[in-house]
Amino acid sequence: METKIRKIDKNNIDETAIQEAGEILREGRLVAFPTETVYGLGADALQEAAARKTYAAKGRPSDNPLIVHIADYEDLKKIAVNIPPETDMLAAHFWPGPLTMIFEKSDLVPYGTTGGLDTVAVRMPEDPVALELIRAAGGFVSAPSANTSGRPSPTTAEHVEEDLSGKIDMILDGGTVEIGLESTILDMTVTPPMILRPGAITAEMLEDVIGPVDADEMPLSAESEQAPKAPGMKYRHYAPKAKLIIVEGDLREEILAIRQLAFAASRGGKQIGIIATSETVPFYNYGVVKDVGTRENEKSIARGLYRVLREFDGEDVDTIYSESFAVQGLGKAIMNRLEKAAGHMRISASEIVKLQKYRKVTFVSGTDSARGPMAAELLRHQDLKQEYVINSRGMVVLFPEPANQKAEAIMKSGQMTLEDHNSQQFDKEDIQEDTLILTIDESEREKILTEYGPCENVYTLNEFVGDHTAIPDPYGKPLTAYGECYEVLDKLIAGLADKLNSFTEEEA
Ligand code: TXA
Ligand code: MG
Repeated sequence: METKIRKIDKNNIDETAIQEAGEILREGRLVAFPTETVYGLGADALQEAAARKTYAAKGRPSDNPLIVHIADYEDLKKIAVNIPPETDMLAAHFWPGPLTMIFEKSDLVPYGTTGGLDTVAVRMPEDPVALELIRAAGGFVSAPSANTSGRPSPTTAEHVEEDLSGKIDMILDGGTVEIGLESTILDMTVTPPMILRPGAITAEMLEDVIGPVDADEMPLSAESEQAPKAPGMKYRHYAPKAKLIIVEGDLREEILAIRQLAFAASRGGKQIGIIATSETVPFYNYGVVKDVGTRENEKSIARGLYRVLREFDGEDVDTIYSESFAVQGLGKAIMNRLEKAAGHMRISASEIVKLQKYRKVTFVSGTDSARGPMAAELLRHQDLKQEYVINSRGMVVLFPEPANQKAEAIMKSGQMTLEDHNSQQFDKEDIQEDTLILTIDESEREKILTEYGPCENVYTLNEFVGDHTAIPDPYGKPLTAYGECYEVLDKLIAGLADKLNSFTEEEA
């Protein structure tokens, strides 16, 4: 079947498009439409046969009930019975909006729509296109998210097209949705009401209106025996094709761990996917990095999550690592979806971080103009199993200067360059737990220890490598002296690389 796509502007709704779409729904056929949460795959909720088409188009198990969308509060009474009194308050606060409530169903609602259950999930969406469509269709539109079962929910009409083109009659394209995660589902048939799926309406917001609510806590592992109460929540969901793993820890450790994983993969000729945030993107040098949103505004992360998961399906990655987010407020819904997309796979950032002993190597010489920068550049050209920030410092640097010209000439002959080098004074900021400080001469090591007190990780290069070939000081001597110095450094740095690489083997 050909899927018609109609652009629609929610601030200036094209009535003929709505009427056309409403007509299709009345005829028992399918129309995808925007809501503020995600795109829905609409069908007439009161026609059993229409529900069957919905399941077929999505490839969704038919025991997974649909949400019935209404546009007028009065209509709730037609499809639900024994509606508890708190419903009025909740509707007054949150409808239209991203809240779905579950009630006992009336006889009007076919079992095909409720997946055989005696209860019905009802939501009044806020998007004006959705509201007009529901009215044009006769008032009751069942709508699961408009994705193929198992894939991330669609947040744009293009996502719907990817999954359902050719399988449904029409897509109303209202642009990118506002929220990006499905509605909060609240079971009103139990006391106190219970959240079956977290969403933009948080437990705190609900409690402010009706007092305590319970939450059907997500099973912690995929193997959990406990079936979630919203049937749909038991399936692996929202999942990208690649394996998704959540990296948990404090943000700094998460970044370090993901950097390590990305570097290791890239060394093995593979790229990993990385779900990062606007603030953390710059920290990653390897991997396919995607910005899900800013940590300053978790709404942007909610809105970006499914887009990013889908984008990875178009990338050549078989594993994706994601940073994690605080589980509070909207973060609860974000982590819930991320965990489900990951099939509950997670790893501890600190476990990975502790596999790498040093992250920085700083060479220290007198003026940081020849031997230090040469050593640093030589190390950058080694095949290292872990990623290091490599630089050099001087104990006496009055002002920044480019590298010594003879040193540069020698490096050039070895296909390297010190062109970008500017000498820099060593200071106490250079002493960090994760930094290996290697001095060219013993005198610099002693100076550091007297000036800054006892500190770990300060060695002479010779001492650390266990090779005591003296490093000649070529300063003021002809080019050949720089050449001899280069030879010694080259050998020491090769030994250093072996030593650094041996840590990886021991500890990994
Ligand atoms: O934001 C949303 O809720 C979107 C938009 C389109 O409105 N819809 C949506 O529908 O997310 P869907 O089908 O993808 O998810 C509905 C969830 C499923 O997990 C389903 O099992 C649960 O709601 N559900 C529906 N009726 C239920 C019922 N009577 N009892 C328990 N869970 C129910
Ligand atoms: Mg869904």
